[in-house]
Order: sequence, then C-alpha cells, then structure tokens
Amino acid sequence: MLEHDVIIIGGGLAGCRAALEIKKQNHSLDVGLVAKTHPIRSHSVAAQGGIAASLQNVDPEDDWKAHAFDTVKGSDYLADQDAVEYLTKEAPEVIIELEHLGVLFSRLEDGRIAQRAFGGHSHKRTCYAADKTGHAMLHELVNNLRRNKVKVYEEWYVLQLILEDTKPSQPLLSRENIPNEENVIKEAKGVVMFNIADGRLEVVRAKAVMFATGGYGRVFNTTSNDYASTGDGLGMCAAAGLPLEDMEFVQFHPTGLFPVGVLISEAVRGEGAYLRNSDGERFMQRYAPNQMELAPRDITSRAIVLEIRAGRGIHPDGSAGGAYVHLDLTHMGKEKIMSRVPFCWEEAHRLVGVDAVYQPMPVRPTAHYCMGGIPVNTDGRVRQNVTQLTEGFFAAGECACVSVHGGNRLGSNSLLECVVYGRRVGRAIANYVINRKMPDIDEKKYLQQAQKRINSLLCQEGNLRINSLRQDFQDTMTEHCGVFRLGEVMKEGIKKIQQLKAKYSQIFLEEKDTHWNPELIEALELQNIMIVGEIILTSALQRQESRGAHSREDYPTRDDKNFLQHTLASYSRDSVKVDYMPVVITMFEPKERKY
Ligand code: FUM
Repeated sequence: MLEHDVIIIGGGLAGCRAALEIKKQNHSLDVGLVAKTHPIRSHSVAAQGGIAASLQNVDPEDDWKAHAFDTVKGSDYLADQDAVEYLTKEAPEVIIELEHLGVLFSRLEDGRIAQRAFGGHSHKRTCYAADKTGHAMLHELVNNLRRNKVKVYEEWYVLQLILEDTKPSQPLLSRENIPNEENVIKEAKGVVMFNIADGRLEVVRAKAVMFATGGYGRVFNTTSNDYASTGDGLGMCAAAGLPLEDMEFVQFHPTGLFPVGVLISEAVRGEGAYLRNSDGERFMQRYAPNQMELAPRDITSRAIVLEIRAGRGIHPDGSAGGAYVHLDLTHMGKEKIMSRVPFCWEEAHRLVGVDAVYQPMPVRPTAHYCMGGIPVNTDGRVRQNVTQLTEGFFAAGECACVSVHGGNRLGSNSLLECVVYGRRVGRAIANYVINRKMPDIDEKKYLQQAQKRINSLLCQEGNLRINSLRQDFQDTMTEHCGVFRLGEVMKEGIKKIQQLKAKYSQIFLEEKDTHWNPELIEALELQNIMIVGEIILTSALQRQESRGAHSREDYPTRDDKNFLQHTLASYSRDSVKVDYMPVVITMFEPKERKY
C-alpha cells in the first residue's frame, strides 16, 4: 500500500497551492498529489480573464471591504461573510506571493501589476496575464511542486474516497461539532486509484486527504469546461455518504462562443466590448443600466436568453430570431484586442472563422462554474452534516463550497479562491497532521471491490454506447435545469434522469483492456456525472425562490424568510434528501440587488 502524510487529489491551482503551503510549513511532511491528467492540463490552465485583489494599482479608492461587499452582493447574499472576509483580505498578499513565485502578470507602464474591470466589481481590481491568466499561474505552481519534492501521480484516476466511521479525535464543543446521538464521525483514510496507462490499482493511505478535484461542466451539453470536468470529487463524496452544498447554483457564463460553448472571457467586455441583439442594440441597458455589459454573470446570462426568447437573437445570415447574440469588439481596435485578449480573438478565428477585429463574435450562455460543492469550514475541513466535521478530510477550489460565491460568483474570484483557500487549507493540514497517526486500512478489501467494479464494467453485455447515454443525460440537464427553471419541467427532468440512470447497466465497452482504455474512464466518469446531475436537479427543485444563478420562473423573487439558507443534499441510490444550513452574515445585511 502506498502512503503519504497528505494525499491531495487534483492537480489544478487549489491542489498545487495547498501542496506548496504544506511543504512551506513543514518541509519534512511527505505530500502526494494525484491528477487524472498531467497537472499542467488541469482545467485551471484554461482560466482566462484574471484574479481579483484590491491592490489599488489602478484604482486607489479600492479596498478589501469594497471587494467583500461586491462579492456578497454578487452572491445574492448567500455567501458566508466570514469566508468572504478571508478571501478579500488575503487577496493582495497572495498575488504578491504569486509574483514572487514567477507568475508573469501583465504590467502597467510603471511596472506594477495591471488591473482591469470585471463584472459586478465596483473597481478595476482584476490582475491578469493577457487572457491566459490560469496558464501563467498554473505553470509556475506546477514547476514549484517539483522543486519542493511533492510526489506527483499523473494520469491516475481516483475511484473511491476511503471514508470510515470513527470516534471524534477531541471533545466536540463548538457550534460546528455538536455531537449527534450516535456520536459517529466519518474519517477519511485514503483513496483507491487506477493507473490510466497500465491498469494498476493502488490504495493510498494518508493522515489527511484533500480534494481539489474541480467542477462538473460536463454534466451539461454545452460548457466552457474541458472534457475532464466531470464532477469526480463531488460524485465520490456523495457516493461515500457525504452531503453536497448549494448544488442548484450553476453558473452559466454569458459569453460562450456559439455553437461550441468555449469561453470568450469576460475580460473582453472588461476591455470595452459590447453585447448587441439582432437590432444592433446594446440590450444590457434594459437589464442593468448602470453596469451594462459588466453586470454580474447571472443577470447578463438571463438578459441574453430573454433577448433570444423575444426573437432578438441572431441567425448566421444576420437575420433576427436566431440562437445567439453578438459580442462586438470592432470599435476596440486591433492593437488593444491583440495585446489584451489575443487568445479570445484566436478562439473565434480558429473555431468559427470570425475575425473579431472586423466582425462580431456569436455568443450565448454556456455552463461554466459550480458555486456549490463539498461543504467545508474556513480551514477547508469537510462537513459531514449541518453540525459535524469529518476527520482527516479537506477540500478547496471549485469542488469545495466554503461558501464565498453563494448564489452567483463574480468573475475573477475563482482563481482567487483557489489560491487563498489553497494556502489556508494547506496551513490547516500541516497543523492537523502533526499528531496524527497513519490510519489502518483493509487494503485487500478495497482492492477487491475496485477490481470487481472495473471487471463488471468491462464485462457488461449491453447494447448502448457510453456516448449516447451521456449525451442524453447532458441534454436532459440542459433542457430541464438551465438558465431559467420551472418546477414542472424539473420534475419531468428528474424522471428522465432516473430512466437514464437505469440504462447505465445497458452500456457496453468495445475495448476490454485495462491499459489505456479511455472508454473505461468515460464509463466511470459518467457515474459521477449522473450522481452530480441528480443532486443539482433535486436541490434546484426544492429551492422555491429565485436567487443568484438559480432563477425560477414559478418563484420569481428572492425569499429570504424561507431560503436565506444553504442547501445540503445527501445522495442515496434511490433518492436525494435535502436539508438546510444557516448562512453566516457578519458585515452586510441582505438587501435588494440592483446594478
Ligand atoms: O471570463 C473569464 O475570463 C472567466 C473568469 C472567471 O470565471 O473567473
């Protein structure tokens, strides 16, 4: 059996930042990091527009409190304000640390880090590296992993979180640790993982397990996320009996390139681009007259869908009634486009043949980000229910819900969350493992279970291809739980996904080998996609209000009396049970959101 003091699952920004922090706190700790791709190919690398921090390089009026207020207002008051305070206060420091690690931020004339406007932010506070900010950051963090002797397992697929019942390690006194009747605490002891290249199965045990497994964009049929964003960490937690928080809050980024859905960064609007409908009108004046194109994403995505529904979308021949609107950069000029957002220009040129210097880009909303996730406290300790924390289990980044984004995340706050909470959780883990002993694990039992799971998939004799079942599932999620939602439509969606789940046993794998078998990995990923999708739909159905990105046409207003609460949804094979948890309000009382 493999063993490390700490095992981190996920090679993106949050996982890498946590690994480096653990080594910085205590270099003798043995840290392993598992990634299903090469870490450099983690989805963080695709982050474009930037990372927010009140550095005051461009706007001296900015400060962390303004950033915190914008974040809480953007979240539609569902964010936990203690967590937002850490996020925004620590932001300037983590940016300087990144700079010292070697991250090549874009610069002002005087050499300081440049900052641009972003949606929902009241000041220019988004630091960037052109429109390849995630790329610039991840490369430096991964380089530093090697330098710090973190053991990287690349192209290993984690099949299972090993979570067993235990007794609490210390008396349970705080609000977060009021014992339940049985006083049973769940303890993470390690993971079971599968080597994608050669089919080897391994159990890894560790004094602390951290998930930084990213999001689930592939639950939907159109997404800005890469093919690997299949909600694996979320699915594994749910399958292990842990709840997931606020999963109904799915961010649809307003400007997915039509028809492919890839991201055209908000930075393009931050640098001055306009959204126009089939009449050539800048329609955002109807929806957010003050912020216009830089309204938060929930509002902008709804505005685009409403324009399309009203017949003011555009067809490829330019006529009205089509499925997209235009993102118009033509007034910005070649020099600005090529220096500030060259990658977005390139995407449109390469994928849909549009030269954005002279022509508008076709865009519409695309599934982009998971506001909810694995419930954690501000040290990244995973909750097992409303009142108790697990032992030995931590999470950070997109897969975690701490919750700094509440009902709607502001652009450029997600990279920030990865590094602020990656660092915080790294510190917490370094302290946590000091007096902990290596857990006992029945390795044989877990290996046998995993082997059986793989064999039964390989031997399944159905007549359905994975691709067709996955497509049906993604289409159902998109149709029944998109930008706008309706109770009856979601109920029907839940029925449909139950039927699709039942068809899983009918899939067959053409390739029977365990060596480099992408079909096998896709089959395993589809299990997670299905679990996550069902939790999203059920949580969305139960939340009978509209808040942030969760927009119910049958409950069009926010209902603080009944729903100023976090959802905690627990999955079992037959059903999803929904519970609620209070929101932490320390600085800003909820009020109506206007832009
Ligand atoms: O639009 C973007 O560049 C995305 C940024 C983000 O999701 O934070």
